[in-house]
Amino acid sequence: MEASHLGDDLTSIVVSHQQLETRIREIAADIDRDYADIDKPLLMIGVLKGAVMVMADLARAISIPLHMDWMAVSSYGHGTKSSGVVRILKDLDIDIKDRHVLIVEDILDSGLTLSWLIRNLASRGPASVNVMTMMRKPDAIKVQVDARYIGFDIPNEFVVGFGLDYAEQYRHLRDVAILAPHVYQH
Ligand code: IMP
Ligand code: MG
Repeated sequence: MEASHLGDDLTSIVVSHQQLETRIREIAADIDRDYADIDKPLLMIGVLKGAVMVMADLARAISIPLHMDWMAVSSYGHGTKSSGVVRILKDLDIDIKDRHVLIVEDILDSGLTLSWLIRNLASRGPASVNVMTMMRKPDAIKVQVDARYIGFDIPNEFVVGFGLDYAEQYRHLRDVAILAPHVYQH
């Protein structure tokens, strides 16, 4: 979906689909290089549902062998702030023992979700765990989350698009845009 179809629901575009595409190609090249010598396919773990678009585009830009799996966790409910309570809604299908794992995330905000997920996956005996996040907000600096690959640092605003939702809406917007406050303040 194009931003122009959303009328005044959006304040402004933060990252355009062209910028996303270019940056994803750069990160894919880094991943190809960094994981060139591993013995099993790289295991990319997407965090449902927000990371679906990132995973689809990033995976197709990568040339080394890879496997994909998915986890669903909940920390937000329907609001716009992290609750800090993380629940597994869907666990992995693949055993990650001795595997090189790359978590693929849409956005790193408070870092609560990712720091919990990194600890959870690390306890399963993988060869390594790294993080790719398409976006990072300034609050992420408060929590110790080392994301090896970061798409864009964005302002501290609630954004939608490219997988990111507000109450399940706007995920199919091609760009990342700031949601107008009147949409969620009522
Ligand atoms: P954290 O635990 O605060 O880092 O939140 C991470 C998760 O919250 C992300 O994976 C998103 O699903 C969601 N999230 C954080 N910021 C936004 C936003 O601006 N728009 C939509 N979802 C967001
Ligand atoms: Mg998410």
